[in-house]
Amino acid sequence: MSEFDEAERLIWAGRAEAFRDSFAKLCARTAPLLLDAAAVGPGTRVLDVGTGSGTVAATACGRGARVSAVDAEPGMVELARRAAPEADVRVAVLPDLPSAPGTFDAEVANFVVNHVGRPAEALAALRAATRPGGRVAATIWCSPVGVGHELLEQAVAEAGAARPADMPRLDPADDFPRTAEGFAALLESAGLEAASCEQIAWDHVAPPEEWWSGAAAGVGLIGQTVSRQDPETVVRIKDAYNRIASKHAGPDGRLVLRYHALLASGPTPA
Ligand SMILES: C[S@@+](CC[C@H](N)C(=O)[O-])C[C@H]1O[C@@H](n2cnc3c(N)ncnc32)[C@H](O)[C@@H]1O
Repeated sequence: MSEFDEAERLIWAGRAEAFRDSFAKLCARTAPLLLDAAAVGPGTRVLDVGTGSGTVAATACGRGARVSAVDAEPGMVELARRAAPEADVRVAVLPDLPSAPGTFDAEVANFVVNHVGRPAEALAALRAATRPGGRVAATIWCSPVGVGHELLEQAVAEAGAARPADMPRLDPADDFPRTAEGFAALLESAGLEAASCEQIAWDHVAPPEEWWSGAAAGVGLIGQTVSRQDPETVVRIKDAYNRIASKHAGPDGRLVLRYHALLASGPTPA
C-alpha cells in the first residue's frame, strides 16, 4: 500500500458518523447524476465502491437496482448496511475488489478516486469487475474544491496553522489534471474507451455548526488539518471560522457554499 493510502486509512478510521452528519450531505448531491451516468435502473447489478455512509447505494436500491457496495473503513460499512439494508455491503480496499471479472453491469465511485494513491489502478479495477458493454462512472472534486473548503482553509491560515507535515501528497507520477479533459483521459487510460466528463456546480446549504463539525472531527484532509492542532490553535481556527462563515450565510443563517465536481463515465469495451 502506498504512503498516501496508509494515511487515507487513518483519516477515515472511526469517523463514519462524523462524515455521515457533515460532508456526506455535500457528496449526496451527485448521487442521482452518477447513477444516471452509469445507466442504473431496475434490475441493474451495480457496485458502489467507497460507499461511505451508503448514500449512493441507498439511492440505487430506491431505483430497484441489485446493489453491492464496498468501503475500506469498517465503520462506513456498518452505516451503509443501515442506510441500504437490501444491499450486500462489505469491507474492501481498492484496487482489490472481491468480485470476479465482469460481475456487474455498472460500477460507481462517488468522490473516492480523489482518495486513492493510484487513481488509474483504482479505475482499472472498477472496469475489470464490470461486464463488457457495462458502464463505469465516477466523481471527483475540481481544484480548488469549493467554497466550504476554502472557508476552512482561510480560517486555518488566519489562525497561523498549516497542514500537518506528515500528510503525504499524491505522487506526481500518479496524479492527473483535475479538469474534465484530465479526468476523462484518466478513465481512458484505465481502459474505458470513449469516456466523457462533465462539470457540475451547485450550492451546498448547511448550518455553520454542521459544516464545522466534520472538520472538527477530523474528516478528510481539511479535517485533519483542523483537528490535529493543539487545543488553543483549534479555538483560534474556530473563531476565525465563525467570522469568515458569517460572510457566506444566507437570510436564514445557513451557509451557502458553491461547489464544483467532475462526473466522468464510459462504457467498458464490448
Ligand atoms: C469522500 S468519502 C465518499 C463516500 C460516499 N461515496 C459518498 O458519496 O458519500 C470517501 C470514501 O472512500 C472510502 N475509501 C477511500 N479509499 C478507499 C479505498 N482504497 N478503497 C475503498 N474505499 C476507500 C473512504 O473510506 C470513504 O468512505
